[in-house]
Amino acid sequence: MLEIERLTKIFANTTDAIAGGIRNASFSLENGTFFTLLGPSGCGKTTTLRCLAGLETPDEGRVAVEGDVLFDSAAGINVPMNRREVGMVFQSYAIWPHMTVAENVAFPLTVAKDRRYSRSEVEEAVDQALRTVDLAGFQSRPATRLSGGQQQRVALARSIVKTPRLLLLDEPLSNLDAQLREEMRVELKRLQRQIGITTVYVTHDQAEALTLSDQIAVIDQANVIQTGTPREIYFRPANDFVAKFVGSTNLLDGKVVRTEGDTVEVEVAAGRRLVCLKSGVMQAGEEVAVSIRPETIRLSAAEAERREGGNRLSGTVRNVAFLGDACRIDVQVGERLLQVKGAPDFAVPDNVEVALVFEASNTLAVPKAG
Ligand SMILES: Nc1ncnc2c1ncn2[C@@H]1O[C@H](COP(=O)(O)OP(=O)(O)OP(=O)(O)O)[C@@H](O)[C@H]1O
Ligand SMILES: [Mg+2]
Repeated sequence: MLEIERLTKIFANTTDAIAGGIRNASFSLENGTFFTLLGPSGCGKTTTLRCLAGLETPDEGRVAVEGDVLFDSAAGINVPMNRREVGMVFQSYAIWPHMTVAENVAFPLTVAKDRRYSRSEVEEAVDQALRTVDLAGFQSRPATRLSGGQQQRVALARSIVKTPRLLLLDEPLSNLDAQLREEMRVELKRLQRQIGITTVYVTHDQAEALTLSDQIAVIDQANVIQTGTPREIYFRPANDFVAKFVGSTNLLDGKVVRTEGDTVEVEVAAGRRLVCLKSGVMQAGEEVAVSIRPETIRLSAAEAERREGGNRLSGTVRNVAFLGDACRIDVQVGERLLQVKGAPDFAVPDNVEVALVFEASNTLAVPKAG
């Protein structure tokens, strides 16, 4: 459905900024996929989306939708934006305040160059789009008299009114408060399923990416670091950047002692060795990071468990924060503070010695990013 090959768009160095953009990105998406570009501010997400929309001319690469080439640097093809049949919701760019809801949603039809739409066609398409986003009956409401969530839905209705082949959404929920954002997340997923449209979604919010996506591409400094399902990204991060950016984790520096099949033994401190699963190819002597998720560690104050050996470390409880559905426990291990997610009724007081117990299957050795 959507093929992107070696897409590159790099903005030159300026006096006030280093070169940014997107480098050598390749993706191939099946019809109906919800695909998310995830990464920190400035990593190149909007740039990638603008290249797909035709708002930015890539330096190199190829973009095709359903076999139709939209851009190909080698063949000199660059289809203009208004002929690409894509719908887009821009980052922090909602709707026009001087128009009604219906006028906002109808806009892509009234300015269309490819064909003229009759008044009844426009009305029908607008009604349909508004029904899809659950805003039937809002047609004549002035845009200024809408809640934040309703404005976002009007923007969404406008992006689908022309039945695009591809939907591009740039942080469409970023202006909403936390609760509304979560509600709109569910809405958006339902809507995307219902109309079955291939969607490229941009966010820097990892929880949003995990909830919504079929596939995620994690981007850092113009480079695609990893592409995979939410579970692959979370449980098998390609390197320490992905492990840290997606979910929370404890990263320990270490050195590979030996490898055996899918596992490696890593020395994380003088004499302390952990058996870990490994991400990618690793050799003895290599410097790596060991990622241990807070929810996979069990704490035990029992004397017998505090003897080291196997995958366990000893530490001291430093702080317990009650979060309602869980406790976040800071445990000092050597010089480091590790985070552990415990049950809400966790009752070990501060400064007590504990064992941190975890399985090799929950412990992942990952390469260090550059
Ligand atoms: N027109 C431009 N000219 C020069 N540099 C640009 C231009 N547009 C973007 N950049 C730079 O390219 C990099 C990527 O920008 P982009 O807008 O794609 O980031 P982003 O991932 O969308 O970030 P955010 O999450 O903050 O929206 C940034 O360093 C930015 O400063
Ligand atoms: Mg952006």
